Amino acid sequence: MQGKLLASATRTLVARLDELARVTDEAGVTTRTFLSPAMARANALVGSWMRESALDVREDTVGNLVGRLGGPGRRTLLLGSHLDTVRDAGRFDGPLGVLLPLAALDVLRAQGVTLPFAVEVVGFSDEEGVRFSSAYLGSKGFVGRLGAVDLAQRDPDGVTVGDVLNTRAGGTFVPPQAAHRARDLIGYVEVHIEQGPVLEAAGLAAGVVSAIAGQTRAKVTFTGKAGHAGTTPMGLRQDALAAAAEFVLAAERLAQGKGPLVATVGRITALPGAANVIPGRAELTLDVRHPQDAKRRAAFARILAAGRQIGRRRRVKFGVEVTQDNGAEACSPELTKVLAQSVKASQGRALSLPSGAGHDGVIMATLAPIAMLFVRCRDGLSHHPDEYVAPKDLGAALEIMVDFLPRLAARSSS
Ligand code: HGY
Ligand code: MN
Ligand code: MN
Repeated sequence: MQGKLLASATRTLVARLDELARVTDEAGVTTRTFLSPAMARANALVGSWMRESALDVREDTVGNLVGRLGGPGRRTLLLGSHLDTVRDAGRFDGPLGVLLPLAALDVLRAQGVTLPFAVEVVGFSDEEGVRFSSAYLGSKGFVGRLGAVDLAQRDPDGVTVGDVLNTRAGGTFVPPQAAHRARDLIGYVEVHIEQGPVLEAAGLAAGVVSAIAGQTRAKVTFTGKAGHAGTTPMGLRQDALAAAAEFVLAAERLAQGKGPLVATVGRITALPGAANVIPGRAELTLDVRHPQDAKRRAAFARILAAGRQIGRRRRVKFGVEVTQDNGAEACSPELTKVLAQSVKASQGRALSLPSGAGHDGVIMATLAPIAMLFVRCRDGLSHHPDEYVAPKDLGAALEIMVDFLPRLAARSSS
Protein backbone atom coordinates (compact mmCIF):
# COMPACT_ATOMS: atom_id res chain seq x y z
CA MET A 1 0.00 0.00 0.00
CA GLN A 2 2.71 2.47 1.05
CA GLY A 3 4.68 1.63 -2.11
CA LYS A 4 1.77 2.57 -4.35
CA LEU A 5 1.05 5.75 -2.40
CA LEU A 6 4.69 6.81 -2.54
CA ALA A 7 4.95 6.06 -6.27
CA SER A 8 1.82 8.08 -7.04
CA ALA A 9 2.90 10.98 -4.80
CA THR A 10 6.34 10.96 -6.45
CA ARG A 11 4.77 11.20 -9.91
CA THR A 12 2.71 14.17 -8.73
CA LEU A 13 5.83 15.76 -7.23
CA VAL A 14 7.75 15.41 -10.51
CA ALA A 15 4.86 16.91 -12.49
CA ARG A 16 4.54 19.85 -10.08
CA LEU A 17 8.27 20.57 -10.15
CA ASP A 18 8.09 20.68 -13.95
CA GLU A 19 4.99 22.89 -13.92
CA LEU A 20 6.46 25.32 -11.39
CA ALA A 21 9.68 25.59 -13.39
CA ARG A 22 7.64 27.07 -16.24
CA VAL A 23 6.55 29.97 -14.01
CA THR A 24 9.24 32.50 -14.89
CA ASP A 25 10.14 36.16 -15.34
CA GLU A 26 12.27 35.31 -18.37
CA ALA A 27 10.70 33.37 -21.26
CA GLY A 28 12.44 30.12 -22.12
CA VAL A 29 14.38 29.83 -18.85
CA THR A 30 13.46 29.57 -15.14
CA THR A 31 14.01 32.86 -13.34
CA ARG A 32 11.97 34.12 -10.37
CA THR A 33 13.29 37.00 -8.29
CA PHE A 34 12.09 38.73 -5.12
CA LEU A 35 8.46 39.96 -5.41
CA SER A 36 8.53 39.67 -9.20
CA PRO A 37 5.38 38.95 -11.26
CA ALA A 38 6.53 35.33 -11.65
CA MET A 39 6.92 35.01 -7.87
CA ALA A 40 3.32 36.14 -7.44
CA ARG A 41 2.22 33.50 -9.96
CA ALA A 42 4.38 30.86 -8.25
CA ASN A 43 2.82 31.66 -4.88
CA ALA A 44 -0.66 31.41 -6.43
CA LEU A 45 0.13 28.02 -8.01
CA VAL A 46 1.85 26.50 -4.95
CA GLY A 47 -0.84 28.03 -2.74
CA SER A 48 -3.49 26.17 -4.75
CA TRP A 49 -1.60 22.91 -4.22
CA MET A 50 -1.36 23.67 -0.50
CA ARG A 51 -5.14 24.16 -0.37
CA GLU A 52 -5.60 20.82 -2.16
CA SER A 53 -3.64 19.33 0.76
CA ALA A 54 -6.10 20.96 3.18
CA LEU A 55 -3.64 23.56 4.40
CA ASP A 56 -4.71 27.06 5.40
CA VAL A 57 -2.72 29.36 3.13
CA ARG A 58 -1.46 32.90 3.68
CA GLU A 59 1.14 35.19 2.18
CA ASP A 60 3.01 37.46 4.59
CA THR A 61 4.06 41.08 4.01
CA VAL A 62 7.49 40.01 2.71
CA GLY A 63 5.99 37.68 0.09
CA ASN A 64 6.58 34.38 1.91
CA LEU A 65 3.93 31.73 1.20
CA VAL A 66 2.81 29.84 4.33
CA GLY A 67 0.57 26.78 4.38
CA ARG A 68 -0.53 25.58 7.85
CA LEU A 69 -1.95 22.19 8.82
CA GLY A 70 -3.22 22.18 12.39
CA GLY A 71 -5.06 24.64 14.51
CA PRO A 72 -3.68 27.65 16.34
CA GLY A 73 -2.05 27.27 19.70
CA ARG A 74 -0.30 23.99 18.89
CA ARG A 75 3.46 23.59 18.76
CA THR A 76 4.56 23.82 15.16
CA LEU A 77 7.09 22.07 12.94
CA LEU A 78 8.29 24.26 10.09
CA LEU A 79 9.11 22.62 6.74
CA GLY A 80 10.11 24.58 3.70
CA SER A 81 12.60 26.20 1.38
CA HIS A 82 12.60 29.05 -1.13
CA LEU A 83 10.48 29.63 -4.25
CA ASP A 84 12.73 32.27 -5.76
CA THR A 85 15.50 31.12 -8.10
CA VAL A 86 18.79 32.20 -9.61
CA ARG A 87 18.74 33.29 -13.25
CA ASP A 88 18.27 30.43 -15.71
CA ALA A 89 17.82 28.05 -12.80
CA GLY A 90 17.07 24.39 -12.45
CA ARG A 91 13.75 22.90 -11.26
CA PHE A 92 14.80 21.65 -7.82
CA ASP A 93 16.87 24.30 -5.93
CA GLY A 94 14.21 25.64 -3.58
CA PRO A 95 10.91 24.24 -4.89
CA LEU A 96 11.86 20.67 -3.87
CA GLY A 97 11.88 21.75 -0.24
CA VAL A 98 8.38 23.21 -0.52
CA LEU A 99 6.67 20.59 -2.70
CA LEU A 100 8.13 17.43 -1.16
CA PRO A 101 6.75 18.17 2.34
CA LEU A 102 3.34 18.74 0.74
CA ALA A 103 3.60 15.32 -0.92
CA ALA A 104 4.58 13.75 2.42
CA LEU A 105 1.55 15.29 4.14
CA ASP A 106 -0.64 13.92 1.35
CA VAL A 107 0.75 10.39 1.84
CA LEU A 108 0.27 10.56 5.62
CA ARG A 109 -3.29 11.82 5.17
CA ALA A 110 -4.01 8.94 2.74
CA GLN A 111 -2.65 6.56 5.39
CA GLY A 112 -4.91 8.12 8.02
CA VAL A 113 -1.90 9.31 10.02
CA THR A 114 -2.44 12.48 12.02
CA LEU A 115 0.35 14.41 13.73
CA PRO A 116 0.15 15.75 17.31
CA PHE A 117 1.76 19.01 16.24
CA ALA A 118 0.91 21.60 13.62
CA VAL A 119 2.98 21.75 10.43
CA GLU A 120 3.71 24.86 8.39
CA VAL A 121 5.10 24.50 4.90
CA VAL A 122 6.87 27.74 3.96
CA GLY A 123 7.91 28.99 0.53
CA PHE A 124 10.39 31.80 1.20
CA SER A 125 10.31 34.78 -1.13
CA ASP A 126 14.01 35.53 -1.45
CA GLU A 127 16.79 33.13 -0.54
CA GLU A 128 19.01 33.56 -3.60
CA GLY A 129 19.28 37.34 -3.31
CA VAL A 130 19.55 37.72 -7.10
CA ARG A 131 17.90 41.14 -7.43
CA PHE A 132 19.41 42.88 -4.40
CA SER A 133 22.61 40.83 -3.85
CA SER A 134 21.56 40.30 -0.26
CA ALA A 135 20.06 36.91 0.40
CA TYR A 136 17.53 35.62 2.90
CA LEU A 137 15.16 38.61 2.74
CA GLY A 138 12.18 36.23 2.99
CA SER A 139 13.35 34.18 5.98
CA LYS A 140 14.64 37.33 7.71
CA GLY A 141 11.11 38.72 7.44
CA PHE A 142 9.66 35.44 8.75
CA VAL A 143 11.84 35.51 11.88
CA GLY A 144 11.39 39.25 12.44
CA ARG A 145 14.98 40.20 11.57
CA LEU A 146 14.48 42.29 8.45
CA GLY A 147 16.35 45.49 9.26
CA ALA A 148 17.28 48.89 7.88
CA VAL A 149 20.42 47.54 6.19
CA ASP A 150 18.30 45.03 4.28
CA LEU A 151 15.71 47.64 3.32
CA ALA A 152 18.44 49.93 1.98
CA GLN A 153 19.86 47.36 -0.44
CA ARG A 154 19.60 48.59 -4.03
CA ASP A 155 19.08 46.63 -7.24
CA PRO A 156 21.10 47.52 -10.38
CA ASP A 157 18.48 50.17 -11.23
CA GLY A 158 18.86 51.82 -7.81
CA VAL A 159 15.50 50.62 -6.51
CA THR A 160 15.70 49.66 -2.80
CA VAL A 161 14.17 46.69 -0.98
CA GLY A 162 12.21 49.24 1.04
CA ASP A 163 10.83 50.80 -2.14
CA VAL A 164 9.43 47.49 -3.41
CA LEU A 165 8.03 46.57 0.01
CA ASN A 166 6.40 50.00 0.41
CA THR A 167 4.81 49.60 -3.01
CA ARG A 168 3.60 46.12 -2.06
CA ALA A 169 2.19 47.46 1.22
CA GLY A 170 0.45 50.31 -0.63
CA GLY A 171 2.08 52.76 1.73
CA THR A 172 4.73 52.43 4.41
CA PHE A 173 6.10 48.92 4.91
CA VAL A 174 6.55 47.96 8.55
CA PRO A 175 9.05 45.11 9.05
CA PRO A 176 7.10 42.22 10.58
CA GLN A 177 7.63 40.62 13.98
CA ALA A 178 8.64 36.96 14.05
CA ALA A 179 5.83 34.71 12.78
CA HIS A 180 6.29 32.44 15.80
CA ARG A 181 7.66 32.50 19.35
CA ALA A 182 10.69 30.23 19.66
CA ARG A 183 9.04 28.17 22.39
CA ASP A 184 6.13 27.35 20.05
CA LEU A 185 8.42 25.77 17.44
CA ILE A 186 9.64 22.18 17.33
CA GLY A 187 12.12 23.04 14.59
CA TYR A 188 12.73 23.88 10.96
CA VAL A 189 13.54 21.09 8.53
CA GLU A 190 14.53 21.74 4.93
CA VAL A 191 14.79 19.25 2.10
CA HIS A 192 17.26 20.46 -0.52
CA ILE A 193 19.37 19.10 -3.34
CA GLU A 194 22.98 18.64 -2.28
CA GLN A 195 24.32 20.84 -5.09
CA GLY A 196 27.58 18.91 -4.73
CA PRO A 197 29.20 15.52 -5.53
CA VAL A 198 29.34 13.74 -2.15
CA LEU A 199 26.11 11.68 -2.15
CA GLU A 200 26.63 10.64 -5.77
CA ALA A 201 30.18 9.49 -4.95
CA ALA A 202 28.86 7.54 -1.94
CA GLY A 203 26.06 5.96 -4.01
CA LEU A 204 23.41 7.35 -1.66
CA ALA A 205 20.10 9.02 -2.50
CA ALA A 206 20.05 11.18 0.63
CA GLY A 207 22.08 12.41 3.58
CA VAL A 208 21.81 14.75 6.55
CA VAL A 209 23.56 18.09 6.88
CA SER A 210 26.00 18.79 9.71
CA ALA A 211 26.40 22.55 9.17
CA ILE A 212 25.80 25.32 6.63
CA ALA A 213 28.90 27.26 5.52
CA GLY A 214 29.13 30.95 6.31
CA GLN A 215 29.22 33.43 3.48
CA THR A 216 30.23 37.02 2.87
CA ARG A 217 28.80 38.92 -0.10
CA ALA A 218 29.91 42.37 -1.17
CA LYS A 219 29.51 44.93 -3.92
CA VAL A 220 32.93 46.02 -5.21
CA THR A 221 33.51 49.09 -7.39
CA PHE A 222 36.45 50.44 -9.37
CA THR A 223 36.14 54.10 -10.35
CA GLY A 224 38.63 55.31 -12.96
CA LYS A 225 38.14 57.77 -15.80
CA ALA A 226 36.11 57.29 -18.93
CA GLY A 227 37.80 58.43 -22.12
CA HIS A 228 38.05 58.10 -25.85
CA ALA A 229 39.11 54.59 -26.86
CA GLY A 230 40.83 55.90 -29.97
CA THR A 231 42.75 58.89 -28.73
CA THR A 232 43.78 58.03 -25.14
CA PRO A 233 47.28 56.51 -25.00
CA MET A 234 47.47 53.26 -23.00
CA GLY A 235 49.85 54.79 -20.46
CA LEU A 236 47.40 57.57 -19.59
CA ARG A 237 44.36 55.41 -18.95
CA GLN A 238 42.49 54.81 -15.70
CA ASP A 239 40.53 51.85 -17.03
CA ALA A 240 38.05 50.62 -14.39
CA LEU A 241 37.18 47.42 -16.23
CA ALA A 242 40.81 46.40 -16.69
CA ALA A 243 41.32 46.89 -12.96
CA ALA A 244 38.19 44.84 -12.26
CA ALA A 245 39.37 42.06 -14.54
CA GLU A 246 42.66 41.89 -12.63
CA PHE A 247 40.65 41.78 -9.38
CA VAL A 248 38.53 38.83 -10.59
CA LEU A 249 41.69 36.82 -11.27
CA ALA A 250 43.23 37.88 -7.94
CA ALA A 251 40.15 36.65 -6.07
CA GLU A 252 40.34 33.31 -7.90
CA ARG A 253 44.09 32.97 -7.24
CA LEU A 254 43.75 33.80 -3.52
CA ALA A 255 41.06 31.13 -3.08
CA GLN A 256 42.72 28.38 -5.09
CA GLY A 257 44.36 25.56 -3.20
CA LYS A 258 42.81 26.56 0.15
CA GLY A 259 40.59 23.51 0.72
CA PRO A 260 36.89 24.41 1.16
CA LEU A 261 37.51 28.17 0.65
CA VAL A 262 35.65 29.51 -2.40
CA ALA A 263 35.54 33.01 -3.90
CA THR A 264 33.35 34.06 -6.82
CA VAL A 265 32.70 37.21 -8.81
CA GLY A 266 29.25 36.44 -10.20
CA ARG A 267 28.33 39.70 -11.91
CA ILE A 268 30.35 42.51 -13.48
CA THR A 269 29.05 45.72 -15.04
CA ALA A 270 31.23 48.15 -17.01
CA LEU A 271 30.06 51.74 -17.40
CA PRO A 272 29.25 53.64 -19.49
CA GLY A 273 29.25 50.41 -21.52
CA ALA A 274 30.12 51.64 -25.03
CA ALA A 275 32.63 49.93 -27.30
CA ASN A 276 34.57 53.13 -28.02
CA VAL A 277 34.69 54.45 -24.42
CA ILE A 278 37.27 53.47 -21.83
CA PRO A 279 35.17 52.17 -18.86
CA GLY A 280 35.18 54.79 -16.13
CA ARG A 281 33.43 52.54 -13.62
CA ALA A 282 33.12 48.83 -12.94
CA GLU A 283 30.71 47.24 -10.46
CA LEU A 284 31.17 43.65 -9.31
CA THR A 285 29.69 41.18 -6.82
CA LEU A 286 32.02 39.16 -4.57
CA ASP A 287 30.97 35.97 -2.74
CA VAL A 288 33.42 34.32 -0.30
CA ARG A 289 32.66 31.17 1.73
CA HIS A 290 34.29 28.78 4.14
CA PRO A 291 32.99 26.36 6.82
CA GLN A 292 35.15 28.19 9.40
CA ASP A 293 34.22 31.84 9.94
CA ALA A 294 37.72 33.04 10.88
CA LYS A 295 39.19 31.61 7.66
CA ARG A 296 36.38 33.10 5.56
CA ARG A 297 36.88 36.55 7.06
CA ALA A 298 40.69 36.35 6.68
CA ALA A 299 40.34 35.34 3.03
CA PHE A 300 37.83 38.14 2.40
CA ALA A 301 40.30 40.65 3.90
CA ARG A 302 43.11 39.34 1.69
CA ILE A 303 40.97 39.71 -1.43
CA LEU A 304 40.02 43.28 -0.50
CA ALA A 305 43.71 44.11 0.10
CA ALA A 306 44.47 42.86 -3.40
CA GLY A 307 41.72 45.10 -4.75
CA ARG A 308 43.13 48.16 -3.00
CA GLN A 309 46.61 47.38 -4.32
CA ILE A 310 45.29 47.01 -7.89
CA GLY A 311 43.45 50.31 -7.53
CA ARG A 312 46.55 52.15 -6.31
CA ARG A 313 48.72 50.81 -9.12
CA ARG A 314 46.18 51.68 -11.79
CA ARG A 315 45.10 55.04 -10.26
CA VAL A 316 41.57 53.67 -10.02
CA LYS A 317 39.51 54.16 -6.83
CA PHE A 318 38.56 50.88 -5.11
CA GLY A 319 35.30 50.69 -3.15
CA VAL A 320 33.54 47.88 -1.27
CA GLU A 321 30.13 47.52 0.42
CA VAL A 322 29.46 44.33 2.39
CA THR A 323 25.88 43.30 1.63
CA GLN A 324 25.80 40.06 3.61
CA ASP A 325 27.88 38.43 6.29
CA ASN A 326 26.47 35.18 7.69
CA GLY A 327 28.40 32.91 10.02
CA ALA A 328 28.41 29.15 9.59
CA GLU A 329 25.42 27.51 11.26
CA ALA A 330 25.43 24.03 12.81
CA CYS A 331 22.31 21.89 12.46
CA SER A 332 20.58 20.68 15.65
CA PRO A 333 22.13 17.34 16.69
CA GLU A 334 18.85 16.22 18.31
CA LEU A 335 16.61 17.01 15.33
CA THR A 336 19.23 15.69 12.90
CA LYS A 337 19.50 12.45 14.87
CA VAL A 338 15.79 11.75 14.32
CA LEU A 339 16.11 12.63 10.62
CA ALA A 340 19.18 10.39 10.32
CA GLN A 341 17.18 7.47 11.76
CA SER A 342 14.66 7.90 8.93
CA VAL A 343 17.44 8.11 6.36
CA LYS A 344 19.00 4.95 7.77
CA ALA A 345 15.63 3.17 7.72
CA SER A 346 15.32 4.00 4.03
CA GLN A 347 18.84 3.34 2.75
CA GLY A 348 20.78 1.53 5.43
CA ARG A 349 23.07 4.38 6.42
CA ALA A 350 22.90 8.12 7.01
CA LEU A 351 25.88 10.08 5.75
CA SER A 352 26.39 13.47 7.40
CA LEU A 353 27.91 16.22 5.25
CA PRO A 354 28.41 20.02 5.41
CA SER A 355 26.66 22.40 3.02
CA GLY A 356 28.88 24.77 1.00
CA ALA A 357 25.69 26.40 -0.26
CA GLY A 358 23.78 28.84 1.90
CA HIS A 359 20.22 28.05 2.95
CA ASP A 360 17.38 29.74 4.82
CA GLY A 361 18.23 27.50 7.74
CA VAL A 362 21.01 29.98 8.58
CA ILE A 363 18.30 32.53 9.41
CA MET A 364 15.73 30.07 10.77
CA ALA A 365 18.33 28.89 13.31
CA THR A 366 17.84 32.20 15.12
CA LEU A 367 14.30 31.04 15.99
CA ALA A 368 14.34 27.22 16.05
CA PRO A 369 16.55 24.14 15.89
CA ILE A 370 17.29 23.29 12.23
CA ALA A 371 17.93 20.13 10.27
CA MET A 372 18.44 19.53 6.56
CA LEU A 373 17.90 16.52 4.32
CA PHE A 374 20.15 16.55 1.26
CA VAL A 375 19.06 14.75 -1.90
CA ARG A 376 21.52 13.52 -4.52
CA CYS A 377 21.57 15.53 -7.75
CA ARG A 378 23.28 14.45 -10.95
CA ASP A 379 26.94 15.52 -11.17
CA GLY A 380 26.28 17.80 -8.18
CA LEU A 381 25.13 20.36 -10.77
CA SER A 382 22.97 23.26 -9.58
CA HIS A 383 22.26 26.91 -10.43
CA HIS A 384 21.96 25.51 -13.96
CA PRO A 385 18.97 24.44 -16.08
CA ASP A 386 20.35 20.88 -16.29
CA GLU A 387 19.95 20.42 -12.51
CA TYR A 388 18.46 16.93 -12.13
CA VAL A 389 17.20 14.56 -9.43
CA ALA A 390 16.21 11.04 -10.49
CA PRO A 391 12.57 10.17 -9.68
CA LYS A 392 13.79 7.19 -7.63
CA ASP A 393 15.80 9.59 -5.44
CA LEU A 394 12.76 11.86 -5.10
CA GLY A 395 10.83 8.75 -4.03
CA ALA A 396 13.52 7.90 -1.46
CA ALA A 397 13.48 11.43 -0.05
CA LEU A 398 9.68 11.32 0.13
CA GLU A 399 9.80 7.96 1.93
CA ILE A 400 12.26 9.46 4.42
CA MET A 401 10.01 12.46 5.09
CA VAL A 402 6.94 10.20 5.45
CA ASP A 403 8.91 8.18 8.03
CA PHE A 404 10.42 11.23 9.75
CA LEU A 405 7.23 13.12 10.65
CA PRO A 406 5.59 10.31 12.71
CA ARG A 407 9.00 9.40 14.17
CA LEU A 408 9.41 12.99 15.35
CA ALA A 409 5.89 12.92 16.74
CA ALA A 410 6.68 9.76 18.69
CA ARG A 411 9.84 11.36 20.09
CA SER A 412 7.98 14.58 20.94
CA SER A 413 5.29 12.71 22.86
CA SER A 414 7.74 10.39 24.67
O1 HGY B 1 24.18 30.88 -2.92
C1 HGY B 1 23.81 29.89 -2.30
O2 HGY B 1 24.58 29.23 -1.67
C2 HGY B 1 22.37 29.51 -2.29
O3 HGY B 1 22.08 28.79 -3.44
N1 HGY B 1 21.54 30.67 -2.19
MN1 MN C 1 18.58 26.78 -2.49
MN1 MN D 1 20.54 28.31 -4.81
